[in-house]
Amino acid sequence: MDPATGLRRTLESRVGPWAAPLEWRQTVVSTNDLLKERARSGAVEWTTLLAETQTGGRGREGRAWASPLGGLYLSVLLRPRDESVGLVPLAAGVAVVEAAGEQGVRAELKWPNDVLVMGRKLAGILTEAASGSLGVEWVVVGIGMNVAVDLTALAAPAADVATSLHLEAGTTPQVRDVAAAVLARLSVWYDALHRRPESVVDAWRGHASRWWGMLVQVKTGDEVFRGRLHDIDESGALIVDLEEGGFRSVLSGEVTRLRPLESELGRS
Ligand code: BTN
Repeated sequence: MDPATGLRRTLESRVGPWAAPLEWRQTVVSTNDLLKERARSGAVEWTTLLAETQTGGRGREGRAWASPLGGLYLSVLLRPRDESVGLVPLAAGVAVVEAAGEQGVRAELKWPNDVLVMGRKLAGILTEAASGSLGVEWVVVGIGMNVAVDLTALAAPAADVATSLHLEAGTTPQVRDVAAAVLARLSVWYDALHRRPESVVDAWRGHASRWWGMLVQVKTGDEVFRGRLHDIDESGALIVDLEEGGFRSVLSGEVTRLRPLESELGRS
């Protein structure tokens, strides 16, 4: 059986008939790039592309995403309503954490959607979108997960900060099964996004790293500021309690935890 049919059957055994195209490639430059081309040519919602390796995998903030054999490299095309688009990355994060959970791995989400196990990166999500005069035209959700990647073969710094399902679970899960789990769970949360968006935010909070109240540095665009992590709001924005007083919310960026200052130790 060819791998795409195998994936379709596994997925359909979980969710019933799956009408959208599912494409399984040996190697591509980037599943996100290829799917974006398809999106621009009118591909239907839920069109999915999976590759066994990528030669130019891309991560957030312009970083590269190492994509050797043994990983999951999957992109899925969604066409959400305008008001739902901000929560798509959070829904995807929850879906990935749940798919890892099915393999016995308890992962956490670091805003916006790094998927970590004990601080080590298991998976990452790159969401890219385009809008036209009528609103959001498409969203491509790209998911990279270290299923059974040989982490020792990754270049630094990824090698030092990464983990895999194989390492955490002590088993060697099939990429096909993990892909089917991610798509099945994403379909559930995408549906929830349109019916009860607050349930997506609640689910995300439920899986979030326990960083609330901790001192962090936030980089958004060219700007860097510090404060304590407060919460996320109903649109998925991160709310930070600023050092200088007041709150600030950001829709995109990178959060780094800061060690408390000596003078703060012992205070709570
Ligand atoms: C991150 O930086 O954490 C996001 C990584 C996203 C990687 C995935 S792999 C499949 C898809 N294609 C890409 O080029 N990137 C995403």
